[in-house]
Amino acid sequence: MYEYSGRALIFGASGGIGLAFSKFLENKLGVENVVKVSRSFDGFEISDEESVSKFSESIEGTFNLIINATGVLQTTEEGPEKTINAVKKKLMIDIMMINAIGPALLLKHFCNKLDKTKFSVFVNLSARVGSITDNRLGGWISYRSSKAALNQIIKTSSIEINRRNKNAICVGLHPGTVKTSFTEKFQNSTKTISPEESVEMMMNVIQSLSIDDNGYCYAYDGKIIPS
Ligand SMILES: NC(=O)c1ccc[n+]([C@@H]2O[C@H](COP(=O)([O-])OP(=O)(O)OC[C@H]3O[C@@H](n4cnc5c(N)ncnc54)[C@H](OP(=O)(O)O)[C@@H]3O)[C@@H](O)[C@H]2O)c1
Repeated sequence: MYEYSGRALIFGASGGIGLAFSKFLENKLGVENVVKVSRSFDGFEISDEESVSKFSESIEGTFNLIINATGVLQTTEEGPEKTINAVKKKLMIDIMMINAIGPALLLKHFCNKLDKTKFSVFVNLSARVGSITDNRLGGWISYRSSKAALNQIIKTSSIEINRRNKNAICVGLHPGTVKTSFTEKFQNSTKTISPEESVEMMMNVIQSLSIDDNGYCYAYDGKIIPS
């Protein structure tokens, strides 16, 4: 069980959900030591290994909770693809870099910062649409594929993480459809929840995790999302 008093590290702390996580940990749980990292405020670039490595060298100590709340749905105004015909190589590579390869670099450089003496969790924010089994609508091919790849990266690294550190696990979390800049274009047509509501539910999931949950992807309601 994650202990409230432990140290926490949040990447993407400038984003809607990342900010709500840091506020929840600080204000609701009273966690004194929440280290916040973001691209806007600190120049952290998840798709650049030099940047990830530089932050890993400068952030000292160990953590009981590491949350990666970075991610993109689109990198241009074109929006996520509605059809395979709209796929563009450069856009797909950019999304893969930020949503899948970046988190792999983060795991590479930060998994050894998970506390070995107490239960500790590495969370990557994933998405239900990354589930191959659950895909009934099609579309959003770059985003879906990047999150499917992320889920495989989480599963694969979770095995190694727990082999090296018996107190550590790594999971994916789907936050729900949350009212942030991420969903700006869909907020009129889709029901959303607030970042605060999403984070409160995800923290309940995090606090109920145990070693047996290693490698899975959970929705904010605690249900496993199939691969
Ligand atoms: N909102 C939803 O409904 C929803 C649903 C499913 C999954 N998710 C997932 O939840 C996560 C967070 O989403 P959100 O709603 O909080 O989005 P958001 O408000 O747009 O925040 C995105 C965060 O990602 C950071 N970021 C983007 N590209 C980056 C890069 N190349 N390097 C470093 N940081 C980068 C942003 O940094 P700056 O702002 O500092 O540039 C920001 O902190 C994402 O992984 C997303 O896929 C969200």
